[in-house]
Amino acid sequence: MSLPAPTSDNRAVVTGASSGIGTALAAELAARGYSLILVARRGELLADLARRLTERHGITAEVRAVDLSDRDQRRPLAQELADRDIAILCNNAGVATFGAVADLDPDFERAVMELNAVAVHDLSLAALPGMIARGAGGILVTGSAAGNMPIPNNTTYAASKAFANSFAESLRGELRGKGVHVTLLAPGPVRTDNPEQTEAFVADNKVPEFIWVSAEHTAKLSLDALARNKMRVVPGLLGKGMSVAGQYAPRALSAPIAGALYRRLGN
Ligand SMILES: NC(=O)c1ccc[n+]([C@@H]2O[C@H](COP(=O)([O-])OP(=O)(O)OC[C@H]3O[C@@H](n4cnc5c(N)ncnc54)[C@H](OP(=O)(O)O)[C@@H]3O)[C@@H](O)[C@H]2O)c1
Repeated sequence: MSLPAPTSDNRAVVTGASSGIGTALAAELAARGYSLILVARRGELLADLARRLTERHGITAEVRAVDLSDRDQRRPLAQELADRDIAILCNNAGVATFGAVADLDPDFERAVMELNAVAVHDLSLAALPGMIARGAGGILVTGSAAGNMPIPNNTTYAASKAFANSFAESLRGELRGKGVHVTLLAPGPVRTDNPEQTEAFVADNKVPEFIWVSAEHTAKLSLDALARNKMRVVPGLLGKGMSVAGQYAPRALSAPIAGALYRRLGN
């Protein structure tokens, strides 16, 4: 089974579409003919993107300015995804924090968990029954290489991305034969406008320019992987290296090394 073809009724949903990888996913989906529902907090950026993609590709783009870390704001969006013909859901919105978790604002750390993990769960579960009933659909989850290993001083982010990574790969195993594809995007550093994303933040300090992976390349690779129902996509050599190290290095060794690196970055 391939992904559902774009129609005038169905929609591809992209969370975190107002910048970075999310904007690139929205642009790539529009170029492939999908009409969109664009989600993030900054509605003016989404409206601007919607206008540009509509003009360029003749698709329909709807804007939902929603704080996905807020359950009350998330609920109507989840209901909308349950009620409409959602062809593709890209769970991409996410943020990172740095430093010892006991020193950070507990309310913000909770909001990171809500956004990076609970919202991914909520929106996927909302869209899933319709996809299964139609026998077609695709869910892309943007996890992270950071979800493969313990990272002291980046604790909430690493743990929330461990959830995202595991959720995507587990869910995929339940949907065999049902026509619904699930792919995990687990990148290392991706160049975006936001230098504060964890892996980008690490790489900015260490990595030569030519090793960077662009958001546009990441988006294209991810949607190609989703179309083929690949389990996991990791763009770029550095991301692949981090992925292997994170998954196969002894955790008792990788945790203190990662912790020391992130403590320096947090400072
Ligand atoms: N860049 C990297 O190196 C890298 C590596 C691994 C994984 N990732 C993951 O890739 C995803 C995209 O990151 P990016 O690098 O493209 O970062 P980005 O440019 O900072 O984009 C983050 C997106 O999430 C949205 N967002 C943040 N908080 C939100 C909230 N409470 N409710 C709704 N939307 C919210 C932001 O929009 P608003 O501010 O308008 O709400 C923005 O559109 C994230 O899940 C990130 O963890 C990135």
